[in-house]
Amino acid sequence: MAEEVGLGVIGGGLMGREITSAVARWIHLHDLGVTPRVVHVCDVDPEVLRWYERAAPQPTLSTDYHSLLADPAVDAVYCAVPHHLHEQIYLDVLRAGKHLLAEKPFGIDLAAANTIMAEVDARPQQLVRVSSEFPFSPGGQAVWKWIADRAYGELLEVRASFLHSSDLDPEKPINWKRQSQFNGLYGCMGDLGMHALHIPLRAGWMPTTVFALLSNVFAERPDGRGGVAACDTWDNAVLACSLTDGTPLIVETKRIAPGETNTWRIEIDGTEGSIAYSTKYPKTLRRLDYKAGAPQAWSSLDLGSVGAYPSITGAIFETGFSDWLQQMLAAFLDELHGELHQPFTCVTPAEALAAHRIYTAALESRATRSAVTL
Ligand SMILES: NC(=O)c1ccc[n+]([C@@H]2O[C@H](COP(=O)([O-])OP(=O)(O)OC[C@H]3O[C@@H](n4cnc5c(N)ncnc54)[C@H](O)[C@@H]3O)[C@@H](O)[C@H]2O)c1
Repeated sequence: MAEEVGLGVIGGGLMGREITSAVARWIHLHDLGVTPRVVHVCDVDPEVLRWYERAAPQPTLSTDYHSLLADPAVDAVYCAVPHHLHEQIYLDVLRAGKHLLAEKPFGIDLAAANTIMAEVDARPQQLVRVSSEFPFSPGGQAVWKWIADRAYGELLEVRASFLHSSDLDPEKPINWKRQSQFNGLYGCMGDLGMHALHIPLRAGWMPTTVFALLSNVFAERPDGRGGVAACDTWDNAVLACSLTDGTPLIVETKRIAPGETNTWRIEIDGTEGSIAYSTKYPKTLRRLDYKAGAPQAWSSLDLGSVGAYPSITGAIFETGFSDWLQQMLAAFLDELHGELHQPFTCVTPAEALAAHRIYTAALESRATRSAVTL
C-alpha cells in the first residue's frame, strides 16, 4: 500500500492548477510507494477556487492560507504565489511544520532568500525543495546523465537559456510578473532564471564573475482597464559568467525572444564531447562525440518518453510540460518518502540561494557596468 501524502496548494492560479492536474493522474507513473492527494487549496480569489470544485476527491477550499496550515490533513505544501509573498508564506509553512515544494525564485530578493534559508536550516527534519521541471524531461535527463558521466572531457563552454516571446506584443496587458513591487527587481531573471540554472548549479558550475546585459524594452503596458501602467521589470537578461577556471557560462533569460514559447535549452561544449537540447525540438537530442583527428559531426537522436521516473507511456512516445512537472513532483515525493528511485533531485534551497547571488550580482553589474566577482 503506497504511503499517502496530503498536499496543500497555496496559490491556485496557473501553477496551482498544473500541480493539481499532475496529482490527479498519479496513476500515470509506475508505483513509487508514495501517492499525493490534494487535500486543501487556498487562494485569496474565490473565483480561482471554483476550478477546484471539479477536482476529485474534493479538496477543502479556503481563502486564508492560515487555515490550510492549520489543517492536519496537509503534510506538504506546494506554494505558487507572486514573489513578494514568498518570504512570509514560506516562513509560515515551515513554522507550521509542513514540508515545502516552493516556487522559484524562493523570495523576492536575496535578503528574503537568506531569511527563508535560515528557517530551512533550523528545520532539517522538513524537506524543502524548489520548483524547476525541465531537467526531469527525457532531454533534460539525457543531458544530466551525460554531464554526470563527464562525457565532455575538458569543459569549453556552457550555455543555458529560458526564453519567452509573448511580451513582444506591446498590447499585452500588464500583470504582476511585469511589476517589480510584486515580481522583484530581478525581473525576468527571478521568473525564468532557475530553469536555466538548475543543471549548471547541480553540476557545480557556480560562476565566480558575472557581467550582465539587461534590457527593459517596454516601459509601459496597457493596464487592462483602458489606461497604461509602468512596466518596470527587466524584460531580457544575458549573463556572461565565468567559472573558477575561467570557463564561460552564458545564461539567457528573456521575455522578448521573438518566436520562442517557453523554450528551455542547454548546450555544453567540451574537448571530448558536446551536447545540445532544446524544448523547441522536444524529441531531438544532439550530440557530438569527438576523438582526436576524427571528423566533428553532430548526430541527432529521437528521444522517447523516458524521463526521471518510469510511466505507462510507451517508450517511443512523446512527453510535454505537464509530464515533466509530474516527474518533478515525483522527485519531491520520492525524496520525502526517503527512498530515492533515481539520484536527480529537485532544486535545493542552497541552489536557489546561489541563483539569488547570481541575479543580485547581475543587478550590480548592470548598475556599475562592470563584471562583478561573487
Ligand atoms: N515552474 C514553472 O514552470 C512556473 C511557471 C509559472 C510560474 N511559476 C512560479 O509560480 C508562482 C506563481 O505563478 P503563477 O504563474 O501560478 O501565478 P498566477 O498569478 O497564475 O497565480 C498566483 C495565484 O496566487 C493567488 N494569491 C495571491 N495572494 C495569495 C495569498 N495571500 N494566498 C493565497 N493565494 C494567493 C492569486 O490569487 C493567484 O491565483 C511564481 O513564483 C512563479 O514564478 C513557475
